[in-house]
Amino acid sequence: MTLQERDHAVIWHPFTQQKNRQPPVPIVKGKGTLLFDEQGNEYIDAISSWWVTLHGHAHPYIAEKLYQQALTLEQVIFAGFTHEPAVSLAERLLPIIPGNFARIFYSDNGSTSTEVALKMSLQYWWNNSRGQLTVDSEQITVNSQQSTFNGERTKILAFNDAYHGDTFGAMSVSDRSVFTLAFHDKLFEVIFIDTPNADNISQLKQIVISQGQEIAAFIYEPLVQGAGGIKMYEAKWMDELLKAVKQQGIICIADEVMTGFGRTGKLFASEYMTEKPDIICLSKGLTGGTMALGITACTDKIYQAYVNDDKLKTFFHGHSFTANPLACTAALASLDLLLKPECQQQIDWISTQNKVFANHLTTLNSNSTPDRLPTKSRPTYDLRHESLRTLGTILAFEIAEGQDGYLNNISTTITQKAMEQGIYIRPLGNTVYIMPPYCITLEELGKVYGMLEELLG
Ligand SMILES: Cc1ncc(COP(=O)(O)O)c(C=O)c1O
Repeated sequence: MTLQERDHAVIWHPFTQQKNRQPPVPIVKGKGTLLFDEQGNEYIDAISSWWVTLHGHAHPYIAEKLYQQALTLEQVIFAGFTHEPAVSLAERLLPIIPGNFARIFYSDNGSTSTEVALKMSLQYWWNNSRGQLTVDSEQITVNSQQSTFNGERTKILAFNDAYHGDTFGAMSVSDRSVFTLAFHDKLFEVIFIDTPNADNISQLKQIVISQGQEIAAFIYEPLVQGAGGIKMYEAKWMDELLKAVKQQGIICIADEVMTGFGRTGKLFASEYMTEKPDIICLSKGLTGGTMALGITACTDKIYQAYVNDDKLKTFFHGHSFTANPLACTAALASLDLLLKPECQQQIDWISTQNKVFANHLTTLNSNSTPDRLPTKSRPTYDLRHESLRTLGTILAFEIAEGQDGYLNNISTTITQKAMEQGIYIRPLGNTVYIMPPYCITLEELGKVYGMLEELLG
């Protein structure tokens, strides 16, 4: 039996309708930006394998560090024990994440990092609004004495089109979309607002002012909303919104699971704003895309709400693989590579190339006549007017074909066309985007742009 046949018999793939599914491509090797299949075909991984790979696949430096760590300590319970990679990683990250962060809480993926952030903020208000707690022995009800704190907050503020992961809390604060449809009656209520712009900022601030005293936390993907359709918004308006949110004492949670570690041109997207978050969620590129790891960092103010003689004010959360030593080691090795000047130069170079290419495509599209490209055949698809956008290493646009949204089947056709040219992209419906690893070469990036240009005629 081939690997595809064996897979077909036993595997259930993520985000994939299993009926009539395309057979998955067996990948046997990765190197740099390239993925190699069983037949020896190579594909440029232009979306960094779901936005995780930073320095390229099977990076020898990260692999070597992992090997050494695997021979030393592969896993240990993280309640009551600690280890060098977890402490070193926290020591190295705290000074570079934007804001005034004091503590790192580990988990093991992006969804758990946001889940932790939500629980951490809700319990912050719960802990602070209660005095000494006691539990009835007969039944599990908590009796609390009066606290001087002015009230518990229970609501969460989030953006329309947001995506924060697939666990129930993360789904609750994500857009009500095809991803969440089957669970809507199980999700908790959230105040959803649009991302800010010049036209709606006053209205958004009004919402924040009128409901602010009930809102525990505001969760947002800074400047780029990923799975919701690579939607981008401006730092200027976000800064204004964040200012209003902070004035209400609301905890700001930056979900940088996708935007973190250089994707938007800066190390973290929150650097574009002067108002900084109180909690930040990191995963994906954290380990350079090598291992599963999640981080929820918080300020000392939030941490202190949990430091208490009262055991009931403990943060009762953790995972078997919390702070796994191998994952922390991969993250340390990835940081070594990321903080080298050459890596930032590569990020800057990709960012510039994206801008140049976006201008080029806009020019082509504005001369939209059938003979605008005499050497090529008829345009394959039309670019949705003014949809072209880029921030840092991310470039996206919509194709004007069928209905906007994730279920638009054009994505499968485009993936196939790109694969035939040795490039892997995975459009979100009719939203086509690239987010390459930083080690992509001039030739490879040129090839990716060539494919996108051809797609648009
Ligand atoms: C912004 C954001 N938050 C959270 C997640 C969830 O991460 P994971 O897939 O690792 O659970 C994602 C995944 O795409 C994401 O883009």
